[in-house]
Amino acid sequence: MSQQPVVLVIDDEGGILDTLRILLKKEGYEVVTAQGGKAGLEAIRTASADIVLTDVRMPQVTGLDILQAVKEHDPMTPVILMTAQASLQSAIQAVNIGAFYYLQKPFANDELLAILKRACEFRQIRVENKHLKQEIRRAAGTKGTSTVARPIGKSRRFLDVLRLAEQVAPTDSTVLVGGESGTGKELLARFLHDASLRADGPFMSINCGALPETLLESELFGHVKGSFTGAVRDKQGLFAAARGGTFFMDEVGEMPASLQVKLLRVLQQREVIPVGATEAIPVDVRIIAATNRDLEEEVRRGNFRSDLFYRLNVVAMDLPPLRDRRDDLILLIDVFLQDLADAGEEPKALSVEAMDAVMVYEWPGNVRELQNALEHATVFARGSLIEPQHLPDRITRQKKEPLVAERSQPNPTLDLIERSYIMFVLQAEGGNKTRAAEVLGIDPSTLYRKLSRYEGVEAK
Ligand SMILES: Nc1ncnc2c1ncn2[C@@H]1O[C@H](COP(=O)(O)OP(=O)(O)OP(=O)(O)O)[C@@H](O)[C@H]1O
Ligand SMILES: [Mg+2]
Repeated sequence: MSQQPVVLVIDDEGGILDTLRILLKKEGYEVVTAQGGKAGLEAIRTASADIVLTDVRMPQVTGLDILQAVKEHDPMTPVILMTAQASLQSAIQAVNIGAFYYLQKPFANDELLAILKRACEFRQIRVENKHLKQEIRRAAGTKGTSTVARPIGKSRRFLDVLRLAEQVAPTDSTVLVGGESGTGKELLARFLHDASLRADGPFMSINCGALPETLLESELFGHVKGSFTGAVRDKQGLFAAARGGTFFMDEVGEMPASLQVKLLRVLQQREVIPVGATEAIPVDVRIIAATNRDLEEEVRRGNFRSDLFYRLNVVAMDLPPLRDRRDDLILLIDVFLQDLADAGEEPKALSVEAMDAVMVYEWPGNVRELQNALEHATVFARGSLIEPQHLPDRITRQKKEPLVAERSQPNPTLDLIERSYIMFVLQAEGGNKTRAAEVLGIDPSTLYRKLSRYEGVEAK
């Protein structure tokens, strides 16, 4: 978007056009006006507007026709409808067919300006994402296959990781990826593979925490027929199968001690000895390991071999949790909602309230949790707007504060604990006393009584 966003204002009353022109210019917008729907249609083609603000009730060409025309011209342009006769029904209909917002006349200037500001942000993200998607497609195009799954983000912390990944990808260095669950460790491993010289080779992966020791051993290294009960034929291990490509070892911190020694050998000698075999087989693989544990701490505790740790940790990449890169939230939300939209349909959008809830939530499950929450919301939101009630409950519940009593008093009285707990539940239920009483299992009248008693105490 240019420095000064261009707003196209369409209304059949010249007076309204004049008022809005003066107001918006003062706020730093470039304003183009069109009197009546017909002139509006013309202006859509010529004005290259970033945002369209249009009256609904106009003779001949209505605001809904304008909305339709804007969608066809440039679907990334938000359209704000204004009308005097707002019924809830028509508002819902307008938003359902893709209006960005529905303003009821008369409206306060502040309200209009707040909506315009949000519309600008929305448009900017849309435009940025379009470029990002084109880039992704171009990158994929050079390989002639489907789109490369590329980790998305633009926060500084995230870009630092991505830049390092781009540098390291073409080398054969072993990489240790750290980060909480759902931060994108596997996605990053795939990205490293796709951007490497081994991209045409296989990408194999195993979750070291998911298999019992003996099974994990034969999966990794292979075995020869008859080496143990059930080994009815020779089996190639994953290290050998990943030859010429990349082997991703997920949850490497879960690896039992006996296998840690064997893995060390692979890393040092670049060969494996299948279970029951006497000869080593050379393996040519690039190893990427991931863990959501603090491996250095595991080394200190004696749970993980230090020599193995140093062999794995040649290049360390740590994916930051989502709560530490909130600048990425809006971008990720937009990309996921676009992915979730049915073909040919406009993606759904978060209402202001839903966006607020999402922005303050801690996201312990990180990007995966965000992806799932949006999928959940897309199913429950019938129209094009996702409201807080469409999101999973835990996201809209207020952040839980530690109990007051726990924090302030070494030996709190029963009374104090009760009081803290009541306040805690009340806060968690967003101040709703009826729901809080339900959660506490007491009568609402009892709750009121207790609360007024506390207020009495507070006042002293
Ligand atoms: N930066 C990102 N951009 C786009 N999608 C992402 C990003 N990070 C994670 N995802 C998506 O989130 C989901 C979880 O990612 P992934 O499986 O890579 O996480 P993980 O760190 O391996 O989690 P776990 O430790 O639980 O195995 C995947 O669907 C992935 O595509
Ligand atoms: Mg994973």
